[in-house]
Amino acid sequence: MILSPSLLSADCGRLAWTLAELESAGVKWVHWDIMDGRFVPNMTFGQHVVRGLRPVSKLFFDVHLMIEEPERYLADFRDAGAQMLVVHAEATRHLQRTLAEIRRLGMRAGVALNPATPLTALDYVMDDADMVLIMSVNPGFGGQTFLPSTFAKVSALRRKLDAAGRQDCLIQVDGGVNLENAGPLVRAGAGVLVSGSAFFGHPPYRERLESFIKNSFVV
Ligand code: DX5
Ligand code: ZN
Repeated sequence: MILSPSLLSADCGRLAWTLAELESAGVKWVHWDIMDGRFVPNMTFGQHVVRGLRPVSKLFFDVHLMIEEPERYLADFRDAGAQMLVVHAEATRHLQRTLAEIRRLGMRAGVALNPATPLTALDYVMDDADMVLIMSVNPGFGGQTFLPSTFAKVSALRRKLDAAGRQDCLIQVDGGVNLENAGPLVRAGAGVLVSGSAFFGHPPYRERLESFIKNSFVV
C-alpha cells in the first residue's frame, strides 16, 4: 500500500516545510489536488505552485487535475515536475488522446472516475492508464464522508483490470479515506490511498503513516 497524503489538508503557508516533514516521516508520494473552480466548486494550486516546490522535494508528485479540459495543461504540469498526472474521464472529451499524451510527455497517466461514473468509462482505455483513481467522495473539498459504494466499485475494477491482463495497473482511492476503511480498501484491490484530513489532522506524520500501513494489512 502506498499512502499519498493530500496537500489540500496541509498548511499552505508552510508547504516547503510540510514536504520536508513528509519525506523525513518515510512518506514516498504526495498528492496535489488541482482545482479550477469550474469542474469542481473550489480553487487550489496551479502549476506555478507545484513548480516552485519541486526543487525542495524528492517525493513522487502525484497530481490530480480536477479541471475542465485538462489537455490544455499537460505540458505545464510536466514542466512543473508532475510524475503521475491524473485527469477526470468526465472532464476531457478525448480521453484516450489525453492519456496517450500524458505518457508521451514522460509522465505516468491516471484516469479518475467520479462516484456516479461507471467503470464502463474505462472500457476502451484500459491499456492507456497506469493508474485508475476511484473517487470515494464527490470531488471539490477535503474532509467529506467516504461513500461505502466505493468498496464494490474497487473490487469490480480489480477484477476488470486483472481480466484485461492489467495486474500492474494501480487503483487509487481518494476522499474520506481513514484508518477504518484503509484495510477493506486494500483488500478490495486498492494499491494507493490518498488521505487529507485523516492524515494531516493527526501528527506526528511518522506515527500516522505507520498506523495507516498497520491498518491496511490487518486481515
Ligand atoms: C477531493 C480531493 C481529495 C481530498 C482528500 O476533492 O480530491 O484528495 O481532498 O481529502 P480527505 O481525505 O480529507 O477527504
Ligand atoms: Zn485528490
